Amino acid sequence: MSKAGGNRVLVVGGTRGTGRLIARLLHERSYEVRVLARDPARAFAELGSAFEVVAGDLTKADTLPPALRDVDHIIFTAGAPSGRYASENLVKTTDYDGVIHTLTAARSAGFRGRFVYLNSIGIKTNSLAGFLINLLKRNTLVWRRRVEDKIRSSDLDYTIIRVGFLLDRPGGERAVNVSQGTLPLAFRNRIARADVAEAFVEAMQHPRASRATFEIVWGKGLRRESWSALLDNLKPD
Ligand SMILES: NC(=O)c1ccc[n+]([C@@H]2O[C@H](COP(=O)([O-])OP(=O)(O)OC[C@H]3O[C@@H](n4cnc5c(N)ncnc54)[C@H](OP(=O)(O)O)[C@@H]3O)[C@@H](O)[C@H]2O)c1
Repeated sequence: MSKAGGNRVLVVGGTRGTGRLIARLLHERSYEVRVLARDPARAFAELGSAFEVVAGDLTKADTLPPALRDVDHIIFTAGAPSGRYASENLVKTTDYDGVIHTLTAARSAGFRGRFVYLNSIGIKTNSLAGFLINLLKRNTLVWRRRVEDKIRSSDLDYTIIRVGFLLDRPGGERAVNVSQGTLPLAFRNRIARADVAEAFVEAMQHPRASRATFEIVWGKGLRRESWSALLDNLKPD
């Protein structure tokens, strides 16, 4: 455990997109934030000196141990690049092997905290959008379904959060639906990255999110419920 007593969080994927929003939110809430980066100089330039940047590449297991040393929780949002072609080899080595390597390194480092993993909705329900994404990022939803099973069968505490289509929109405005079913991937099932960032930070230490899997997408109308209330009804897997 870190000297600050449960305060140091490693964000894998914290150099971009949702992971970077999570890293910033954790910092605002006074966590010590460590970010894994393939290109530490670029990450440091973008994030600033308030963040600890540690070099590592998910596809190379032997690069990961330094990042996993003395962390209290791990948030994992990394994945093969979105919006362009990715070979099945790149998808498997990033979306599947990368998670396994992280879990292995965490176990070796004596990790006792929670592993909070970002997945996509639609890994269990067929849809046209899911079919097209599997064509572009070869079978990403298949590898992401398989890796969930590996996380669940590990002896670590975990939370799996499946998210809808991600949008760069402000957070906190729209209602969020939290459910434990298997929504299809479809544009109507969407959510802002900023809302997803809040969900991760809140779920990381919420007792009901321990060993639980849930899905988040925007609901109808304005946000009225607190995250704590939204997560209070979760059931463990
Ligand atoms: N776009 C959507 O609608 C959607 C929907 C559901 C789920 N998702 C998933 O949600 C996650 C977040 O998406 P996003 O668009 O917010 O972020 P993103 O821009 O896709 O960021 C991906 C992150 O993964 C990191 N990464 C990739 N390969 C890596 C490797 N080998 N080693 C270390 N880090 C690696 C990237 O680091 P670098 O800075 O080094 O590239 C980056 O920080 C992704 O996993 C994505 O697949 C996306």
